[in-house]
Amino acid sequence: MEFEYYNPTRLIFAAGALARLGEVASQHGKRALLVTGGGSVKRSGVYDRAVASLKLAGVSTVECSGVEPNPRITTVRRGAKIARNEGCDVIIALGGGSAMDAAKVMAAAFYYDGDPWDMIFHGQTVPYVPTRALPIITVPTLAATGSEMNMGAVISNEETKEKSFVQAQCLYPVVALVDPELTMSVPQDQTAYGICDIITHVTEGYFNGVAGTPIQDRFAEGVIITAMEYGLKALEDGNNLEARAQVQWASIVALNGWVNAGTNGGFPVHMIEHTLSAYHDITHGAGLAVVNPAWMRFAARHRPEKFVQFAERIFGLDAKNSIDLDCALEGIDRFEAFLKSIGCPTRLSELGIGDALLTEYAKETVRIIHDDKGLLPGQPPMSEADIVAVLRSAL
Ligand code: NZQ
Ligand code: ZN
Repeated sequence: MEFEYYNPTRLIFAAGALARLGEVASQHGKRALLVTGGGSVKRSGVYDRAVASLKLAGVSTVECSGVEPNPRITTVRRGAKIARNEGCDVIIALGGGSAMDAAKVMAAAFYYDGDPWDMIFHGQTVPYVPTRALPIITVPTLAATGSEMNMGAVISNEETKEKSFVQAQCLYPVVALVDPELTMSVPQDQTAYGICDIITHVTEGYFNGVAGTPIQDRFAEGVIITAMEYGLKALEDGNNLEARAQVQWASIVALNGWVNAGTNGGFPVHMIEHTLSAYHDITHGAGLAVVNPAWMRFAARHRPEKFVQFAERIFGLDAKNSIDLDCALEGIDRFEAFLKSIGCPTRLSELGIGDALLTEYAKETVRIIHDDKGLLPGQPPMSEADIVAVLRSAL
């Protein structure tokens, strides 16, 4: 196990923390670009409260609204232009992962004269990795992506049907102002997709990482069990603040680098899902709910011991031995049943996806990210035929 860990984001986590937005933002700028989605923050009153807090602290605002789920590069270009024209010196994302990701790339695009699409890793030999960005403050309203405290962003290009990521140190938010109260208005379906996204962030490292990471395994299992237990409570009663808070915290820990530190694995389920989202504009967490169990059944045959551990520690199953494949597969069935029980799709058909383009999805996924043998990184590395087989099993 070898790693270096770095995360400079200041995390403020408290119910009611939104009231501190002005105080916090005024330490980083005087004129903020407020990046929002399709209107949920307006309907909930969160937007007005944010603006009032900023105004009180002497921070003026200009808005870039309308960031779509699976945020588009066109929206990033639009936001960066507003920030430049309006002389913004800080960017505040108020919304879900989509608003946060778009805001991050706008912050870097502010200083970049080329096209921000150059920053998104979409298979170009030398992507442009930004080194400078406006200070970013994230105020998440949905527990899912962990974008609030990491250096990643995922952006789609409608024209080229591509969806991919950028990772750069300048994209770490200076502050993540996390107020779990803001997630109480998230509808049931998005709450469930968020739970699936959180769990998948840690299962990627758990199953694809190097061997010999006992602490990371226990961290990951803690995130999974907590997201399942408190996720169910949040679904039962969306106003259960304690449940919302635990799920929000799980979402942060799952992808701020801590749980996966040293695992050094690929993210094959995410890479495949991003292709499906690029073609069909589906919700990220819903796509993961379909791909992850199908991928697990494929990978369990390669590495049964890790899946046996999952089955025993998450679902309390009793394995005959450390490579008991039946037990491993039973654990995956239980996981899929959990996803189904909270309202996630588990078949491609439920997402309106048929078998016509399976080969194309596979080719496209591997084109964007591959190892030196041309395989999708993971345990095991996947050929295009493997990806097609996994997707076919999820039809
Ligand atoms: O757009 P608005 O009106 O705000 O509504 C959103 C949207 O319709 C709604 N919503 C958000 N907060 C709400 C709310 N509705 C009611 N009350 C609230 N408090 O939920 C819908 C989905 O929002 P979105 O931001 O798209 O969801 P999510 O947070 O799941 O973000 C998904 C995006 O993040 C990317 C995904 O690929 C996808 O593009 N990811 C980003 C990652 C990262 N930066 O580290 C990692 C992830 O693996 C993921 O790929
Ligand atoms: Zn994800």
